[in-house]
Amino acid sequence: MKPRLIVGNWKSNKTVVEAKKWLQELANSKSLMANREGLQIVVCAPFIVLAPMKEEIAKLSLPIVLGAQDVSPFPDGAYTGEVSGRMIKEVADWVLIGHSERRKYFTETDELLARKVHEAKDAGLSVIYCVPDAEAQVPDGVDVIAYEPVWAIGTGKTEDPKAAASVLAALKTKTGVEKGIYGGSVTAETVASFLAEAAIDGVLPGKASLDPQAFASLFV
Ligand code: PGA
Repeated sequence: MKPRLIVGNWKSNKTVVEAKKWLQELANSKSLMANREGLQIVVCAPFIVLAPMKEEIAKLSLPIVLGAQDVSPFPDGAYTGEVSGRMIKEVADWVLIGHSERRKYFTETDELLARKVHEAKDAGLSVIYCVPDAEAQVPDGVDVIAYEPVWAIGTGKTEDPKAAASVLAALKTKTGVEKGIYGGSVTAETVASFLAEAAIDGVLPGKASLDPQAFASLFV
């Protein structure tokens, strides 16, 4: 099977206790992850659960890596409330930047997002950059582009896999970024149809990542 990336986006869900329980339940599906060659699993969790999750992942020897859902556009310093790339790097390897919910509810602009990418790369994080369409700007340094049509996020409606593949192919050509993933209501029923497309290197499930069994059913 080709290399593929399954990135769970928990959004603003799960306490430390709940996150640990999720990992313990996922550990029952460990064989499912270990037996899938080319499968890379990332969980993007709220900042405060990352450190305890890292410990629990090591304890359970789970083949998953962690990501944050945001990063400060500034380095360490007098920026009250912000979490810098350097702080994230101690507990996670990936970061999601530009999610449509950040753009919508926190009015994040292309200029701000480019600064976040810069800080994340400076800290050595791998960046998954979310865009709503093929016309979106993509800053330099991005590792993976996530195409997430706004109408498909959390609605139960998915983009046609061939249409998603053509958007990702266009974005890859335009930017030179080599990996592209699709997000928007991905489920166990639809995951394989997306991964079957040559231009789609993985998926970004939100809702389907919240339950460990539902998440494990995406490991195809
Ligand atoms: P969803 O979320 O799978 O619940 O649609 C995906 C996302 O917003 O990243």
